[in-house]
Amino acid sequence: MYRTKNNGELRIDHVNETVTLAGWVQKTRDKGFMVWVDLRDRYGITQLIFDEERTSKDVMDMASKLGREFVIQVKGTVIERESKNKNIPTGEIEVLVSKIVILNESLTPPFTIENETDGGEDLRMKYRYLDIRRAPVRKNLEFRHKVTMAVRNYLSAKNFVEVETPYLIKSTPEGARDFVVPSRMNEGEFYALPQSPQTFKQLLMIGGMDKYFQIVKCFRDEDLRADRQPEFTQIDCEMAFVEQEDILQTFEGLTRHLLKEINGVDVETFPRMTFDEAMMKYGNDKPDIRFGMEFGELNAVTQHKEFNVFNKAELVIGIAVPGGNNFTRKEIDQWIEWVRRPQIGALGMVYCRYNDDGSFKSSVDKFYDQEDLAAWAKATGASPGDIVFILSGETNKVRAQLSALRMQIAEKLGLRKAQEFAPLWVVDFPLLEWDEETKRYHAMHHPFTSPKPGQMELLKSDPGAVKANAYDLVLNGNEIGGGSIRIHNKQIQAQMFDYLGFTPEEARAQFGFLMDAFEYGAPPHGGIAFGLDRLVAILGGQETIRDFIAFPKNNAGRDVMIDAPAPIDPEQLKELHLQLQRKP
Ligand code: AMO
Repeated sequence: MYRTKNNGELRIDHVNETVTLAGWVQKTRDKGFMVWVDLRDRYGITQLIFDEERTSKDVMDMASKLGREFVIQVKGTVIERESKNKNIPTGEIEVLVSKIVILNESLTPPFTIENETDGGEDLRMKYRYLDIRRAPVRKNLEFRHKVTMAVRNYLSAKNFVEVETPYLIKSTPEGARDFVVPSRMNEGEFYALPQSPQTFKQLLMIGGMDKYFQIVKCFRDEDLRADRQPEFTQIDCEMAFVEQEDILQTFEGLTRHLLKEINGVDVETFPRMTFDEAMMKYGNDKPDIRFGMEFGELNAVTQHKEFNVFNKAELVIGIAVPGGNNFTRKEIDQWIEWVRRPQIGALGMVYCRYNDDGSFKSSVDKFYDQEDLAAWAKATGASPGDIVFILSGETNKVRAQLSALRMQIAEKLGLRKAQEFAPLWVVDFPLLEWDEETKRYHAMHHPFTSPKPGQMELLKSDPGAVKANAYDLVLNGNEIGGGSIRIHNKQIQAQMFDYLGFTPEEARAQFGFLMDAFEYGAPPHGGIAFGLDRLVAILGGQETIRDFIAFPKNNAGRDVMIDAPAPIDPEQLKELHLQLQRKP
């Protein structure tokens, strides 16, 4: 037996017991006549003691040879520590070693493997297996496991069946590029890795599975951010014979269960907000509603004077920053600079201080009197002591700018509290989205989403106004899930492809299998997919999903540990009927 106890379980009650432990040497302190070793495994750290007076000479000699991260096995007696460490659960005891075996040696690790490390991100990614030995990383993976198990248990108890769907498939459009896999046996042909199992879960509904879920990898070749990975995991779900309300209820149930089970938080009801309302109030379809700073529309109270910037703007909007009247002139200038950065793109920003005595002081006092400024304060919900920040311009742009500012201010003021949870449903998404680049409408969710009843007609006259049976679940300003009620009628699906610019041949070639299936009794159905990585990160009080993935890719989509992607052998290329085109 390699061990009789782990390194996290010995307590004062175990004193005088003989134990065998195994693990990694985290640290040694060698005083010559006495050596202490912190022995680590997944469960914790136990202090070992080697004492010249009580330990044999050969064991003493080996103790002094131990390096960091050596793997050892020791046998010894649990004794009470003279100086106790209240910070760790095993801090009252130590193990007086009588026997030691070095199971494996280690090179000096490239960074310290302790809770606080000196290793930079790149180095820790290159040696991810060493990083995983650190408690914070290990705990995140254990946390992920706990969430995953809670999801599986909950859905299984609700009669959902987990079904695996294939990875080598044909393009499933979710708005990103596909990762493709060449086929050796079919020259010139390629599989695409699924951006989601969307079409397969719909086929499972046609197959009568009724309630499906799958914790499944999805692959999307898109630009990466803190909350995006090229391969990520979904909790993918679908139900038959349901309306939107059934889906919202069911998955509100799942989310409520997770918040309770994982975070001990009770959330009574999940507010619902239409997409239009979210854009109007927060300039964003995934608003963080843990704090106020709702947008106030100011056209009516700004466009009656000689201030041209506002007069020619499509939209003038502002937010009241709580306590913002404390900002110094320099701080205000920094915020103005912040919105003028190219990433945000505002040309400038107007501000209006709301003094404690009820008076106002704005950066445009030349144009506006106290009565005007009072109207701004009213429209933005400002109180004495606040500052109102105002942006103007083209509606969509200015909303996006103010939304970014709102989030940044909230972050700075500490209003985005990690252990506070505010989920909400955003509903009634537009069916289509205009794409400037291709000068065409695209499906905002995906092409299988059904329009709201009675709106199919609008598609011809005013496509941008058509609302879909589509919804997102938002948690603390992050989109953690999205779904829709699907089209289950062949003609309507064909019409949809037509509107989206597919020729009938293209639609047939890409999605003929689904349209054919619709002809064999497709039940009404709908579903949702949660981003598991995001959900786990947010429940864990963070937003960077990389920290909750065992082996993540970096921002360039590379795995720096295994060094992928990598060139392949010319022989292999030939077998795959591929030729690399080198630029001349
Ligand atoms: P959607 O594209 O909205 O819907 O994806 C569902 C959820 O997956 C997460 N997500 C990601 N997480 C990490 N990295 C990424 N690159 C990434 N992309 C998406 C988000 C998102 O809300 N088939 C539909 C679902 C349906 O209609 O049922 C779909 O995939 O949290």
